[in-house]
Amino acid sequence: MKIQSSQFVITGANRGIGQAVAKMAAVSGAHLHLVARSWSEGVRSSLTQLGAASVELYQADLATKEGAAQLAQQLSSVEVDVLFNNAGLLTGGLLEQQSLDEIYAMFQVNLNALVHLTHALLPGMIQRKKGKIINNSSVSAFMHFPCASTYAASKAAVVAFTDCLEAELAGTGVSTLCLVTPGIKTRMFDEIEVKYAKNFEIPKDSISAEDYAEKIRVAIEGDWKYYWPKGTTALGLWTARYLNPVFRSAVQKRFRR
Ligand SMILES: NC(=O)c1ccc[n+]([C@@H]2O[C@H](COP(=O)([O-])OP(=O)(O)OC[C@H]3O[C@@H](n4cnc5c(N)ncnc54)[C@H](OP(=O)(O)O)[C@@H]3O)[C@@H](O)[C@H]2O)c1
Repeated sequence: MKIQSSQFVITGANRGIGQAVAKMAAVSGAHLHLVARSWSEGVRSSLTQLGAASVELYQADLATKEGAAQLAQQLSSVEVDVLFNNAGLLTGGLLEQQSLDEIYAMFQVNLNALVHLTHALLPGMIQRKKGKIINNSSVSAFMHFPCASTYAASKAAVVAFTDCLEAELAGTGVSTLCLVTPGIKTRMFDEIEVKYAKNFEIPKDSISAEDYAEKIRVAIEGDWKYYWPKGTTALGLWTARYLNPVFRSAVQKRFRR
């Protein structure tokens, strides 16, 4: 799919991966519809200078059903070509020590809002016979580390949701892209250390959000169904999926209660 001139919606676009993808799409000449809870001055003009065809900023709290519904309503007049469900929250630590309120908010942002926005924007895409839903999952969907129980469950659900949708959308002109995102140096990446460090020594490989946005551009333009990481992370993913006892034993050695 061509990014130039597309109507491109990105949730969680004020920092991290979402911001880097917004810049990448701006350079490619997209019409940007960017979502976050708050915006700083100058975002619109800097993205326009990079080449964005237009920039609309939306304020929405996706941790509530009302927030997702309000955003869906605001986007209902836009003929969306690309929906990048990227906004996310991290939970972590021993399950009994995680806050239930934080767990509920995380599932709401990572999963329910993603489903809600897809549900709202998909009919228009099907009618126009074009569009792409990009869902930001994680290596955690496949690599089941201790301290990641609730977050990993949300990301595994995103994979299942995207796979089922891909099958439903065959022949409609609408496609999906599931990002199996590895470590990306963002605020969330720094939070991982804080939330896990007491009980689990998490692998610390990461790449920059800008480098990742470039990989996402290639995946969009090449109409890939999945983005899978390469290198050491790919080896870890392969071991987790196909040599699970070896993966589990390596993980257990890094864990202490
Ligand atoms: N970084 C990694 O290593 C990594 C690895 C695998 C997957 N991922 C996934 O990649 C996505 C982006 O993460 P990131 O690393 O770029 O993290 P980040 O820098 O912390 O950015 C998270 C984004 O989500 C938005 N968000 C959070 N809560 C929200 C809410 N209630 N309503 C609306 N927006 C909300 C934030 O905007 P506000 O200003 O509104 O909070 C922010 O724009 C997430 O889905 C994450 O799970 C990241």
